[in-house]
Amino acid sequence: MVLTPRIVPTSLTTVLGTVILDHWTVAQETGTDCRAHRRPDLCVPARRTVCFVAALRLPCGLPVPRVVMHRKGGPRAERGWRGGAAPYAGTGGETVGGRNAAPSPVATADEIVHTAHMAKLFESLRIRGVTLRNRIAMSPMCQYSSEDGMPADWHMVHLGSRAVGGAAAVIAEATAVEPRGRISPADAGIWNDAQAEAWARIARFIGRQGAVPGIQLAHAGRKAAAAVPPPGESVVAPTASAFSPECPVPHALTEAEIGCVVRAFADAARRAHEAGFRLVEVHGAHGYLIHEFLSPLVNHRVDGYGRDRRRFLLEVVDAVRRVWPEDLPLFVRLSATDWSPGGIDAGDTVETARRLRDHGVDLVDCSSGGAVPGVRVPEAPGYQVPFAARVRREAGIATGAVGRITAPTHAEAVLAAGDADLIILGRELLRHPYWSLDAARTLGVDVDWPRQYGRAKG
Ligand SMILES: Cc1cc2nc3c(=O)[nH]c(=O)nc-3n(C[C@H](O)[C@H](O)[C@H](O)COP(=O)(O)O)c2cc1C
Repeated sequence: MVLTPRIVPTSLTTVLGTVILDHWTVAQETGTDCRAHRRPDLCVPARRTVCFVAALRLPCGLPVPRVVMHRKGGPRAERGWRGGAAPYAGTGGETVGGRNAAPSPVATADEIVHTAHMAKLFESLRIRGVTLRNRIAMSPMCQYSSEDGMPADWHMVHLGSRAVGGAAAVIAEATAVEPRGRISPADAGIWNDAQAEAWARIARFIGRQGAVPGIQLAHAGRKAAAAVPPPGESVVAPTASAFSPECPVPHALTEAEIGCVVRAFADAARRAHEAGFRLVEVHGAHGYLIHEFLSPLVNHRVDGYGRDRRRFLLEVVDAVRRVWPEDLPLFVRLSATDWSPGGIDAGDTVETARRLRDHGVDLVDCSSGGAVPGVRVPEAPGYQVPFAARVRREAGIATGAVGRITAPTHAEAVLAAGDADLIILGRELLRHPYWSLDAARTLGVDVDWPRQYGRAKG
């Protein structure tokens, strides 16, 4: 049965009912009932008992008190974890209720009060000293709109509009920690103070919209364009092998040079903090430098960085954590699988995630692929969710699910199944900057809109 919350004109004098929702379908995503397509993982757990009440139109036109729904056996507005410890327990995180979690106290006439359940997607999430107002984050996405690594007006509008649109965290694109770490000459950077200053205005705006400003710190490694390194320098990697025949053959970093790159990550994190970012994500995925060290398909070193492929990542994380304030969250994006025999697999990633947890990382953002060309990626809605689920369960760390999640009901199902703590949206937020506000409406949750747009809320 699909219950679609909506506004219903109330000629009814009173409506009070209890419905049993057997399944909250993901019809928007698949066009079918989840039972029919045998994907129980996409269903919100069955049998929620919900009371709904239509508002009465009083003769005097006054609003009537909103009758609040309740979940069977639960308090009116359940907040935080429902049983069990937070998956990042031990790293300082806990969940708390958020101001968006509860319905407003009164309903106006003509409005049906349909708070069918308290959607997990709109529960707040506290990580260290930072509270995300809901579980929606904007995925980092390169904009190729910078000159000399400087963020531009484009970034202000691109990132700012998703904060206005209700996302809880807005993570700026892969931002190079040194000039030769750019994928293209038009990449953004944070290797100097002028860039940090330009980021500060953007971070401040995001924060003022109630979102947490985040930035992804990155180094492209052997996937940097040949045009990118400063004169006299070359593209770098753990091993001197090119990504593809069209790409430059990289210089294999010496141990001393690795130390310099680690310091560049730390300096970038320090600048990110000075710029006002409150969340940092280290880019360890998609075949860029850190992933190149992690993947046995690329890292053929015989020194300590080859014997322990995680060593470089952990050194970066330690260096970042040292300068990144204790009360601010640190995420790492990993490619959970290389989708290729002999490459990283999910078991490997669980072990990496355990090590990251022990090194002060708060959340693993589970992506995939990118180490080597020519692999077949089985892209389908939620295709990377199983990695987030497995890492969360087996490594005991919070995870972000990313990849072809577009429907609010699908996002809700992922959270309700305990497969992830955060839904990280990429292209869907490019298509729909205000997705989060619309998702709240779809799931029957009343969230604050930007004051300026209040008259459009309806
Ligand atoms: C235009 C574009 C730029 C991207 N740039 C980055 C990036 O800077 N860093 C990163 O980790 N992933 C990047 N990605 C991958 C996305 O963050 C996301 O993981 C991917 O698109 C899958 O999520 P989606 O299906 O919701 O789009 C980019 C994707 C797109 C479409």
